[in-house]
Amino acid sequence: MAREFLPLEAVRGVGLAGVGAVGAAWAALLLASGYEVVAYDQDPAAVDRLDATVRAAWPVLSSLRSGVPDSPPMEKVRFVSSLEALADASDLIQENVAEALETKRAVMSRIDAVLPPDRLILSSSGGVPPSQLQEFCRHPKRVVLGHPFHPAYVIPLVEVVGGRRTSPEAVDLAMSFYARLGKRPIRLQKEMVGHLTNRLQFAILREAIHCLSEGVASADDIDVAVRWGLGLRWALLGPLMTFNLAGGSGGVEQVIARFHDDVEKWWDALGVPRLTPEVCAKLYDGVRQLRHGISNEKWGQWRDAELIELLKYRALHPYLAEPPDPARET
Ligand SMILES: NC(=O)c1ccc[n+]([C@@H]2O[C@H](COP(=O)([O-])OP(=O)(O)OC[C@H]3O[C@@H](n4cnc5c(N)ncnc54)[C@H](O)[C@@H]3O)[C@@H](O)[C@H]2O)c1
Repeated sequence: MAREFLPLEAVRGVGLAGVGAVGAAWAALLLASGYEVVAYDQDPAAVDRLDATVRAAWPVLSSLRSGVPDSPPMEKVRFVSSLEALADASDLIQENVAEALETKRAVMSRIDAVLPPDRLILSSSGGVPPSQLQEFCRHPKRVVLGHPFHPAYVIPLVEVVGGRRTSPEAVDLAMSFYARLGKRPIRLQKEMVGHLTNRLQFAILREAIHCLSEGVASADDIDVAVRWGLGLRWALLGPLMTFNLAGGSGGVEQVIARFHDDVEKWWDALGVPRLTPEVCAKLYDGVRQLRHGISNEKWGQWRDAELIELLKYRALHPYLAEPPDPARET
């Protein structure tokens, strides 16, 4: 039977549509994985942004991965002057333009009109379900959501899901592509606004803002609750396993048997804040205090440096039931 898509072994040049924070981070990871990068962004400053991001990411990538060259192979990066030229020069595209539905749809359909139909178009969108992205594509079967986490060259997770008209083979291929990049892809079984991880993230963010605006605790203490409580466990176990362990040897069945009604009562008591000017003022004030006068750039650098140590720790201390490495399944 004829192959529907270009095999990954034949993918050399990966096209980046949009080189903001996320596109530039993909560029670093792609170069470290041996790919050539073709890039297009409507903003001329993207050229310097990619260069600076790759150079800043390189020591990080070298410390996390083996076989990374001493210096970034910038000669493998080529900027082109249109989306059509990008599609013409790429074996696979990762789209990373601004998170606005109409912009993304226009970009996807222009790429789709030129890129041969056997090549994947992957989207980094943090919230748009892929069915909405593929709506105006003539070859929607190759459109797949591949949502990374920032910075994409540090955080392993990528959420992968197809839209209503995506071929399952395209989703399989996207999973394999990300595994080849050293990512930890997860395959969602259903598309939703916000996918999976942003739904989880925004659920806790909503309650954090609710508690802040209701005066339950200071911004500092709300973050301490995660940094010194919940987050410590979450670096090892997810919320469902954490809930299971709350039941001791009886596990989740015991927690539900004892606390079924309480759990539902607590859910019912969760806040549904709106971002009114008053709520925003409390949020801005709280976060200003949290920053302690240190710039966001400095906070970001500190976070990324510490994440590297955490990832090294995780590599030496695998999860009790580590699933098979997806890279070995391809
Ligand atoms: N920032 C994050 O933490 C994060 C994490 C994961 C995924 N994402 C997703 O990645 C995407 C990009 O996010 P970002 O944070 O890099 O945004 P960004 O604003 O930093 O970058 C967007 C880039 O797209 C370019 N662009 C806009 N319209 C374009 C067009 N028509 N053609 C070509 N280039 C165009 C802009 O010039 C800009 O460089 C979004 O879909 C976002 O949801 C963001």
